[in-house]
Amino acid sequence: MQDINKYVEENKQRFLDELIELLKIPSISADSKYKNDLLKTAEAVKQRLLEAGCDVAEIHETPGHPVVFGEKIIDKDLPTVLVYGHYDVQPPDPVDLWESPPFEPVIKKTEIHPEGAIFARGACDDKGQMYMHVKALEYMTKNDQLPCNVKFMIEGEEEVGSENLGWFIEKNREKLKNDVILISDTGMIAKDTPSITTGLRGLSYMEVEVTGPNRDLHSGLYGGAVGNPINVLSKMIASLQDENNRITIPGFYDHVKEYSEAERAKMAEAPFDLSDYKKKLNVEDVQGEKGYSTLERASIRPTLDVNGIWGGYTGEGAKTVLPSKAYAKISMRLVSDQDWKKISELFTKHFESLAPKSVKVKVTTHHGGQAYVTPIDTLEYQAANDAYAEAFGKDPIPQHSGGSIPIVSLFEKELKSKTILMGFGLDTDAIHSPNEHFGIWNYLKGIETIPLFYKHFTKLKQAEKK
Ligand code: BES
Ligand code: MN
Ligand code: MN
Repeated sequence: MQDINKYVEENKQRFLDELIELLKIPSISADSKYKNDLLKTAEAVKQRLLEAGCDVAEIHETPGHPVVFGEKIIDKDLPTVLVYGHYDVQPPDPVDLWESPPFEPVIKKTEIHPEGAIFARGACDDKGQMYMHVKALEYMTKNDQLPCNVKFMIEGEEEVGSENLGWFIEKNREKLKNDVILISDTGMIAKDTPSITTGLRGLSYMEVEVTGPNRDLHSGLYGGAVGNPINVLSKMIASLQDENNRITIPGFYDHVKEYSEAERAKMAEAPFDLSDYKKKLNVEDVQGEKGYSTLERASIRPTLDVNGIWGGYTGEGAKTVLPSKAYAKISMRLVSDQDWKKISELFTKHFESLAPKSVKVKVTTHHGGQAYVTPIDTLEYQAANDAYAEAFGKDPIPQHSGGSIPIVSLFEKELKSKTILMGFGLDTDAIHSPNEHFGIWNYLKGIETIPLFYKHFTKLKQAEKK
């Protein structure tokens, strides 16, 4: 596929311009104010799929934001690749920390991206990575290089837990039938170190509310005599981890998969520089579960983190008040074989048991999902391996990621096919943070690598049939 490079080079500017247009629409799924922008983005994605060569592209309403479905079937006897991605994005805040407005994309050079990177919310997660697949399809259809059938399922609720996607899949099982699911919504180790994501963590997202007295009180008249919900909540949260940074919820580790020394040694071969890691984050030291490396803590071990905590007076100046309520949002990243619903129950039970009588506690579960591990001794992984080897000139490294795409484990269960996670983002691309960006080199490299996956997958699949 020599001519893919030529095609990408010749169409580079248009590929960038088209992505920039998509990035201008603030498709923030978490905020109902933007409902219309999600619709607008879905419409745009549908249009782009048709232009890229899909015979069918449809918008499917759900109880939440719509799913875009597209397909090009060239021969029913050939294999089918199902591409999954999401067109929704995270809220951009804190907006004042952005160097340029989050929905006014600009291209700037960085140390890691000397070719330039597109700065905008969603540039890497996931509009940019999703759009690589649309442009790869364009290349294949316009150059008579599409070796198999292709389907697209692009959703608008990934960043809020994909709550309606399970429902959509169940209703459309036949329509979504495929031989492999292909996703670019993760990262790679480095530009010169290609990698394929072979693990995703699960997630259990909780919210807690601690109520003390029935109204805010004068902290002089009542302070010291009444349970302060913020003080109490802080203590409760602090007790969730012990001195070794292990989580204290009874039963939490019961089903955590332990890796053998050999497997851990293999994982440790992935290039990683701790001092560089600390430097990039401007921290003196790292912190985490005793007995595990930083890479392990951020991939194969479960965690518990407070994502937000509030209550009382947070305005300008000082106000002496003993608040009636305190709140926190707490997430747990899970690994196989923890069951997220079970973990949410264990958390609830334990958190309720921690509360002193001076307060009342309410725990609610937001959303969650199972962890996911891709085996590497499969035809699907081999095809991905071959695609990277051809595009990069070296074999990719399989790597567990710490992030979550909760719907992936459901895909396997419902659609009975394997998932390949071909991510092209870098950890430094600041997804979910201010100044999110996606390297132009990475974007174009993705467009080049994807058709090679189609080629190798079809070849291996056809050979298997004979
Ligand atoms: N694309 C990310 C997940 C990701 C990023 C996995 C990088 C691996 C490497 C996805 O959009 C995401 O942000 N997922 C959420 C979970 C979701 C339920 C909100 C996450 O991981 O926090
Ligand atoms: Mn994503
Ligand atoms: Mn995300």
